[in-house]
Amino acid sequence: MRRAIFPGSFDPLTNGHLDIIKRSAPLFDEMIIAVLNNADKHPMFTVAERCDMIREVLPTVDTDGCKMLVESFSGLTADFAKQSGATAIVRGIRAVSDYEYELRMALMNRRLEPGIETVFLMAGEEYSYVSSTLMKQVFELGGRVEGLIPELVEQRMRSKSGNHR
Ligand code: PNS
Repeated sequence: MRRAIFPGSFDPLTNGHLDIIKRSAPLFDEMIIAVLNNADKHPMFTVAERCDMIREVLPTVDTDGCKMLVESFSGLTADFAKQSGATAIVRGIRAVSDYEYELRMALMNRRLEPGIETVFLMAGEEYSYVSSTLMKQVFELGGRVEGLIPELVEQRMRSKSGNHR
C-alpha cells in the first residue's frame, strides 16, 4: 500500500492543485489531501469550507484508481504524514522560484521523518503562474479567473464576497 499526503493551505483549491493531484494519482494507492489548519493566516475560506470544496470537486477528477481522502491537520506536516502511515509527501513545483523554499521544506521534513520522502511533481505549464493567493487577488479586484480554478470554487468565492458577476 503506497500512501501519500498532499499538504497545503488550499485557500482555495485551484486547477493547479488538481493538476498535481491527477499527476500523482498513478504513483500511489491512496492519497490524503491534507489541509493545514493555520491559525496565523487570515483565510478566505474556513478549513471546513476548503475541505468540503475539495471533497465536492474530487469526484470530477480522474484519479486513476487512487483512493483520495481529504483531512485537515494542525502542527507539523512530517508528524501528520507519519501518523497517517504515509511514506511520501507530494508537492508541486511551478517554477524555479518555488524550488528554494520547497527544497528547504523537503530537507527539514526528511530530517524530522527520515522514512518519508518528498516527491516533487512539475505542474502543467498552463498552471505555472497559478497560485491561490493570485487567484484571490485577481478575483477580488474584478478580474477573470475562469479556467484557473474549479467552477464550484468560483461560485463559492462569489457567494463569499457577495460578488454576483
Ligand atoms: O499551500 P502552501 O501554503 O504552500 O502549503 C505550505 C505547507 C502547508 C505545506 C507548509 O506550510 C507546512 O508544511 N506547514 C505545516 C507546518 C510545518 O510542518 N512546518 C515545517 C515545514 S518544514
